[in-house]
Amino acid sequence: MNIPVLTIDGPSGAGKGTVSRAVAKKLGWHYLDSGSIYRSLAISALDKQVDLLDEAAVAEVAKNMQLAFECDDELVVKLDGIDITARLPTEETGASASKVAAYPAVRKVLLQKQKDFRQLPGLVADGRDMGTVVFSDADFKVYLTASAKERGDRRFKQLKEKGIDANLDKITQEIMLRDRRDSERKTAPLMPAEDAFYLDSSDISIAEVINQVMILTE
Ligand code: DC
Repeated sequence: MNIPVLTIDGPSGAGKGTVSRAVAKKLGWHYLDSGSIYRSLAISALDKQVDLLDEAAVAEVAKNMQLAFECDDELVVKLDGIDITARLPTEETGASASKVAAYPAVRKVLLQKQKDFRQLPGLVADGRDMGTVVFSDADFKVYLTASAKERGDRRFKQLKEKGIDANLDKITQEIMLRDRRDSERKTAPLMPAEDAFYLDSSDISIAEVINQVMILTE
């Protein structure tokens, strides 16, 4: 039986998380925030004092980490039984995640963990390679982007709202650096799937993006 999947890929700060969560809720589907898996891995490796430059050692951490996603009103992520939700959104974690995500051995280990989220009645999957690699047979694919300036502004606001100290110029620079690393890596680089619906959210509201994605799934 085909379990429907909607993939939403794009660079950081494009609004993928907000849009994916809203659409998953409207459709009554499950939600996979694949970035949080790479973020959790980075946290686990750093906590275990594993050298992030050591691909085999990081892949070993990926193999052994026990991740649980508990969805109440807000998503709670537990790593080996400990709540790490508050540590996930920082840009430091994002940058380390982007580094470990470039390793083919890591991506191989994490592939099945992500595929396992495909359960009835359907899945909204958010990330960089959801439509190109992990769910290449997805029923609906979106590539959501926005200008680096707009994404920097949004990320800055998000972090402020979470009470995390941030500097706008620094955030925008870090976003651009992360985009480059994620797009230029050899394995599963960030790029639109050939059959993805390309959406630039720089000049439209998130509500309008949600609307357009919902129309796509009809
Ligand atoms: O979406 P995010 O900002 O939480 O992702 C953090 C990093 O994880 C991102 O810079 C690259 C990596 N990532 C990835 O390589 N593939 C995915 N499907 C999702 C995230």
